[in-house]
Amino acid sequence: MTSATLADTAEALVADGKGILAADESSPTIKKRFDSIKIASTEENRRDYRDMLFTTADVGTYISGVILYDETIRQKAADGTPLVDKLNAAGMIPGIKVDVGAKPLAGHPEETVTEGLDGLRARLEDYAKLGARFTKWRGVYRIGESIPSPACITANAHALARYAALAQEAGLVPIVEPEVLMNGDHSIDDCEEVTEEVLRSVYAELSIQDVWLEGTLLKPNMVVSGDTCPEQAGVAEVAERTVRCLKRSVPAAVPGIVFLSGGQSDEQATEHLDAMNKLGDLPWKLSFSYGRALQAAPLKAWSGKAENLAAGQAALLERAKANSAAATGTYA
Ligand code: 13P
Repeated sequence: MTSATLADTAEALVADGKGILAADESSPTIKKRFDSIKIASTEENRRDYRDMLFTTADVGTYISGVILYDETIRQKAADGTPLVDKLNAAGMIPGIKVDVGAKPLAGHPEETVTEGLDGLRARLEDYAKLGARFTKWRGVYRIGESIPSPACITANAHALARYAALAQEAGLVPIVEPEVLMNGDHSIDDCEEVTEEVLRSVYAELSIQDVWLEGTLLKPNMVVSGDTCPEQAGVAEVAERTVRCLKRSVPAAVPGIVFLSGGQSDEQATEHLDAMNKLGDLPWKLSFSYGRALQAAPLKAWSGKAENLAAGQAALLERAKANSAAATGTYA
């Protein structure tokens, strides 16, 4: 592995007008998504759903890479072709979620620390052999009365940095994902303050662990009002505050920032990204790594029925195109 490989992969993931499809829902999460369309979460249904997404004609024009879950990176489609081969054939880079989830943080009810460092070196080697070229690890921070605590902020930053160093050692680009949740009645001020503190702690830890920033991507939340806050900030305010917060805390050496959607509506996620790119004068690429904001529409259109395959693919293509335009600030 050379650092050039890491930088090439990171740059390819945020090539002009391209972003990432997060399709790495764990088994409990994909079950929730399937419950919403009333289909069973069987291995076959999960495989067929993801095969539908990945084989959407032309989607590789807008989607640079796909984050997979452990089951999916090992899975073959009904026609016997590994799903990883289908991604590569469509010009999309296979990636893999490598954390094992957010677990209760000792002594801190309501807060979590993300686990998965034990044995990670061997798992990364395995994933590289299976064709992954990038990875993802998500730390989670909840805003509330006196939280996130310093314990939560430092523990998650440390884990993110240890993970990122191991991923780079394996030749895989680490996507560093600290997510400040939008759940709650907190104001956009609170979100901005907490997001900045979290990002500063993450970059301090990445520096301590000698992570090479040119070979990483950041996947943060946007700075938004809490979802039950009576006063909801508009698109322009979200864009201005998010860019201000990122400029204060994310080094310019980072090639790209790919946002999570975090529960925003499809349209909001697109408009916010577009507004940020329209502001211009940015030291990094700003793009997307959306899960729900890319998949909600195709999931509903497909609804688990083979005859709806084309409708599901059309719905994904529409969201992918809209977000591709937003990634260059040209969404109408
Ligand atoms: P959402 O866009 O649905 O927040 O998912 C992105 C993701 O990968 C969360 O880890």
